Amino acid sequence: MNILHIDCSPRRESHSRQLSAEIVGKLLTMLPDTTICRRDLGYEPIPHAGADYASALATPASLAAAGRDAAALVLAEQLIQELEESDVVVIGTPMNNFTVPSVLKAWIDQVLRVGRTMKSTPAGKVGMLHDRPVFVGIASGGVFAGDGANQHDFLTPYLSAALGCIGLNTVHYLPLQGTAFIDEARANEVRHSLIAKIEPAMMSLAQGLAQGLV
Ligand SMILES: Cc1cc2nc3c(=O)[nH]c(=O)nc-3n(C[C@H](O)[C@H](O)[C@H](O)COP(=O)(O)O)c2cc1C
Repeated sequence: MNILHIDCSPRRESHSRQLSAEIVGKLLTMLPDTTICRRDLGYEPIPHAGADYASALATPASLAAAGRDAAALVLAEQLIQELEESDVVVIGTPMNNFTVPSVLKAWIDQVLRVGRTMKSTPAGKVGMLHDRPVFVGIASGGVFAGDGANQHDFLTPYLSAALGCIGLNTVHYLPLQGTAFIDEARANEVRHSLIAKIEPAMMSLAQGLAQGLV
C-alpha cells in the first residue's frame, strides 16, 4: 500500500496533524508493508498558481502548447504523480474561514487540470483518476456540523466537489470540532471515536489490497 499523507496546519501542536497521524498509524497496523509519500503543505507550502501556470491553463490551445513537460507544469505533474501512485490519501487540515486553508487550495489548483486529471464534457467535469479512499481529518475551533453547528461549512462540500471532479469520490470526513473549547482528554476521546468509525472502510481497503483487488 502507498499512502499519500498531506498536512495543512502551520502549527506543531496541531489537532489536524495529530488526527491525520493517527489515521496513518491505524492504516499501518492493518498493512505494515506500506510506503508513505509525505506532502507537508503546512510546513512547506507550495506556491500559489503563478503567471506561467495560469497562462498555460488559460485556453485549450495554450494547454496543448504547454504539454506535460513544460516548466510551468512541473510542480503540478509531481503532485499529480504523488496522487496517482497512492492507494489511499490521508489529509489533515484545519477549517479556515469556513473552508480549506489556502495551502490546500494551492494544492487543489495544481492537481485539477482539464485533459490530465479531468475531462470537460457538456454534462460537466469527469474524473480521469481511479477512485481510492480519501480520509480527511478536520480541526475546527468552532462547530460546523451536527449538534450545535453555528457556522457555514464550505469545506466538506467544496473538497468533495474538487476531489470528485478528478475521480476521487470516496471521501471520509473526520471532524474534530470545537478545538477552541475542548481539553486534551476530550480531544483524545473524540479522535479515537472518529477513527473507530472509519475502521470498517480501512479494513475493506486493506483486505482489497491484500487480495490484489484494488
Ligand atoms: C485564519 C484562521 C481562520 C479560522 N477560521 C475558522 C473557521 O471558520 N471556523 C472554525 O471553526 N475555526 C476557525 N479557525 C480555528 C481553527 O480551525 C482551529 O484553531 C483548528 O484547531 C486549527 O487546526 P490545527 O489545530 O490543526 O492547527 C480559524 C483559524 C485561523 C488561524
